[in-house]
Amino acid sequence: MSAGLPEVDSALLQKRIQELSLLTEATPPVVTRVLFSDADLHGRDYLRRLCEDAGLSVRVDAVGNMFARWKGSAPDAPAVATGSHTDAIPNAGKFDGVVGVLGGLAAIEALQEAGFKPMRSIELVVFTAEEPTRFGIGCLGSRMLAGAIPLEKVRALRDAEGATLDDLRERAGLKAPLESVALPENFYSAFVELHIEQGPLLEREHIPIGIVQAIAGPSAYRVRITGEGGHAGAVLMRGRRDASLAASELALAVEQAALDSGSPDTVATTGKWEIFPNAINSVPCGATLEIDLRDITLETRDRALMLMRQASDSIASRRAVKIAWEEINADPPADGDPRTMGITEDVALKLDLASTRMVSRAYHDSLFMARICPTTMIFIPCRNGYSHRPEEYSDPAHIAAGARVLAGTLARLSYEPL
Ligand code: GLV
Ligand code: MN
Ligand code: MN
Repeated sequence: MSAGLPEVDSALLQKRIQELSLLTEATPPVVTRVLFSDADLHGRDYLRRLCEDAGLSVRVDAVGNMFARWKGSAPDAPAVATGSHTDAIPNAGKFDGVVGVLGGLAAIEALQEAGFKPMRSIELVVFTAEEPTRFGIGCLGSRMLAGAIPLEKVRALRDAEGATLDDLRERAGLKAPLESVALPENFYSAFVELHIEQGPLLEREHIPIGIVQAIAGPSAYRVRITGEGGHAGAVLMRGRRDASLAASELALAVEQAALDSGSPDTVATTGKWEIFPNAINSVPCGATLEIDLRDITLETRDRALMLMRQASDSIASRRAVKIAWEEINADPPADGDPRTMGITEDVALKLDLASTRMVSRAYHDSLFMARICPTTMIFIPCRNGYSHRPEEYSDPAHIAAGARVLAGTLARLSYEPL
């Protein structure tokens, strides 16, 4: 221990990040690990083994959230939690989420190695489906833990093949009722998530530690456009009701709405498209778009949405198509807990690591954990701010430093008065 804080086994942490990255549906180094795919199931087995080898007691809830507990001397007191996710969007890298899970485990092991004895139990949580890839909605596991989604809505979810969550749960051997997922009140005393920044600021400023004081509020919409199909040669241009052209206009209007919201923090992306019948010689009669809209303040996010809806109405009438909007989710932003942030800041200072408070523009399971307990996040730099792409990279020294700050923070939180 230096400065009274334990060292993290950086080489072992890197080895595990590498091993987990090989459990992928894509060709390494590309990582794709969609909820309940074979790669995800193998990843879950791998993590379970590591946690059991570390002497943690593991339980898995009905939606697949995994909890690995290091029992403290006050086992009935609300525990301190850390963790993140290991699912990965198509064509992703190896660090998003994984750093918080394997770094969380490394932090616990560092404390064990240093002879630390927790008072409040310390629990590592591996959340199910932080990424929206399979069901279109992000943070499914943490959203359900926080009781932030009605179960009728969960039961109505369908993936691209029409499978329900229950169909997939069965495949994963999860049989308990979904009603059992939401955590009782005061289950955790605090939650701290370690994560790569997924943006360029820390690297640019040469600051190794970011302390998250707010998380932008995400929202997502599915928009179905119905036009009229026909033969690409035979149907003349005038009077066409081409759904894909309406979709294209709408995507440009989405961009403009975000630019005109009145805040540079409003971001909107039309990242998912389906065109029907998707044949070169057929006028598209259907299009489905998914729009991701986020902001730090709800006022400007709402304004951008209003501008999008107005543009959508005008496109629908001009092109004589039907445009139906469905809200997937519209979540408020979350604030970091000042006391938890202060502890993390203090630990970083003791380790001689510069830190800065910052906003997370990406969403994280912390967005929902913040609803049920005091929460903050520890960000570490990542190269060029790249994330959600295979080039994602964080320096091993930065990862180890983040895990060390996490270890120190968990140790302090474990001794917060009962
Ligand atoms: C999380 O992956 C996000 O899209 O912010
Ligand atoms: Mn992600
Ligand atoms: Mn993530």
